[in-house]
Amino acid sequence: MPEDWLHERGGVSRTRRTKRLIIMTGNVIQPAGIREVAVIGLGIMGSGIAELAARSGRRVDAIEVDQGFLDRGMARLRASLDRAVSRGKLTDAARDEVLARIRPTVDLAAAVAGADLVIEAIPERIELKMALFAQLDEACRADAILATNTSSLSITEIAGGTRYPARVAGLHFFNPAPVMKLVEVISTVLTSPEIAETLALLCRDLGKTAIRVSDRTGFIVNALLMPYLNHAIRLLETAQATREDIDKAATAGLGLPMGPLTLLDLVGLDTALAVLETLQAEFGGTRYAPAPLLRTLCDARLFGRKSGRGFYDYQRPSIPAAAGEGHEVAPVPAEVVLIGEQDGLLGELAGRITAAGISLVPQLSGQTGLVIVAADPKQRVLDAALDAGHPADVVGVHFVKAGNGEPGLAELVLPDVTAAGMAAKAAALAARIGLNAVISRDRPGFLVEALAYAQFNDAVRMFQDGYASPADIDTAMILGCGYPHGPLQMLDEAGQANVVGVLEAMHAATGDPAYTPVPLLAEYATAGIKFRG
Ligand code: 3HC
Repeated sequence: MPEDWLHERGGVSRTRRTKRLIIMTGNVIQPAGIREVAVIGLGIMGSGIAELAARSGRRVDAIEVDQGFLDRGMARLRASLDRAVSRGKLTDAARDEVLARIRPTVDLAAAVAGADLVIEAIPERIELKMALFAQLDEACRADAILATNTSSLSITEIAGGTRYPARVAGLHFFNPAPVMKLVEVISTVLTSPEIAETLALLCRDLGKTAIRVSDRTGFIVNALLMPYLNHAIRLLETAQATREDIDKAATAGLGLPMGPLTLLDLVGLDTALAVLETLQAEFGGTRYAPAPLLRTLCDARLFGRKSGRGFYDYQRPSIPAAAGEGHEVAPVPAEVVLIGEQDGLLGELAGRITAAGISLVPQLSGQTGLVIVAADPKQRVLDAALDAGHPADVVGVHFVKAGNGEPGLAELVLPDVTAAGMAAKAAALAARIGLNAVISRDRPGFLVEALAYAQFNDAVRMFQDGYASPADIDTAMILGCGYPHGPLQMLDEAGQANVVGVLEAMHAATGDPAYTPVPLLAEYATAGIKFRG
């Protein structure tokens, strides 16, 4: 710990200074030594962090720029505590004790003066953060730890503008902060290892798991999550599928707790745009270039749940919001031609069709039928449709297996040459036979594999770059975003060669180099090596 930290500390008695010196030179301040936490910014993240800190028994100064923001932030915090009470997780008395430990204030300098730890959670603008940290430099004790909850801005730049950069680190929580178990603890080249260790111990004390990383744009989670969310918006704006089907592809197809468009509404579209812009500025390429629809929605101030509307409308939930309507209603097809080996899941499909009283026929006899071909995400359904001699009546079906081997989700794939109304007919059939289905245009990867495999490729690139280990990447996505398995484990389960094949097909169809399998993935596929052993 630099000695001038101690000399610069105004207004602190020599005895206390000596005590602090002993604690500091004991290398790592234990969580019990962090009794007073100042949280600056009571937006969605800040109010959650303040709640967590207060629930851990610490005194919390909850700081906002003006009374209006302060009142809204405290109302959010109280609502979250009330919710915990109503779910039996907290007693009324415990809630009141937590609230009594929180001091809401707009007086920054006075509030941070006694803090052992300051956590900044203000809007994602570097100039605001730099100015705030300059203020903290003056107002905090020199031995206070300064942490930023930035999602993607350079912590090194923020720290570099302060007098004591060794005490500045990133403490990145996930939304909703009281629930998600991960915190990324980010060290810059200037952060003292003892401070990073203290923060990691503190996270454990708050009931979280810390993953320690160095300062790189997007850290682990946002560098993997944001391009995936952006990809989902592109699928929506290019009419690959409806918003509901894109979300269902992720929940029913991948087992994620929320679809990407619902998750965007939760994190805030403005936040996602800001993170993507930072990632884009740092890494370039197409994965991070914000989808035009994201910008449009932000321009319209449709930021998601916090503004009442984003991809979905939270004030009038039955009305589709920004884009994407549900499927039209059509009569169930009277007869179906099924092309492909009728074993396994296609055999089960045949059984369900006949059990529903729909005829399986070798040739359609009129206009009311449907031709179903087995679809492969590496190939166009169009070619199978042309081979079948029925380009206008064909729907491809691709089953995404759930963990138990049952069909978790059926992707019904429509080439663009398919006759109008076929999507509705396919949806009607799926509903009649109880098939959990989504409808996708005929593009490689369809919905589930396009979204997932592009992210797997990003995850391998992160490992290839030496930024994080496969275990940390997987743990981060499981604890930060509620994934059932990490992306690299899912990649192993899907088979490297299969993933490479789909990515190559996506690359060939779009010309987008972002889908080129990264060299390490191609190597592991060739050698048959698993990322998670
Ligand atoms: N605040 C506090 N608690 C909340 C909450 C909130 N906003 N939302 C949900 N909860 C609690 C509930 O009270 C419940 O608690 P309990 O189990 O103790 O009773 C628990 O969470 C589960 O809630 P629900 O049953 O209502 O709902 P779900 O089972 O659908 O879970 C979810 C909700 C936990 C949000 C789940 O859908 C999920 O894990 N989603 C993924 C969220 C995610 O990916 N977050 C990361 C976003 S990226 C990010 O934040 C980084 C930033 O830099 C952009």
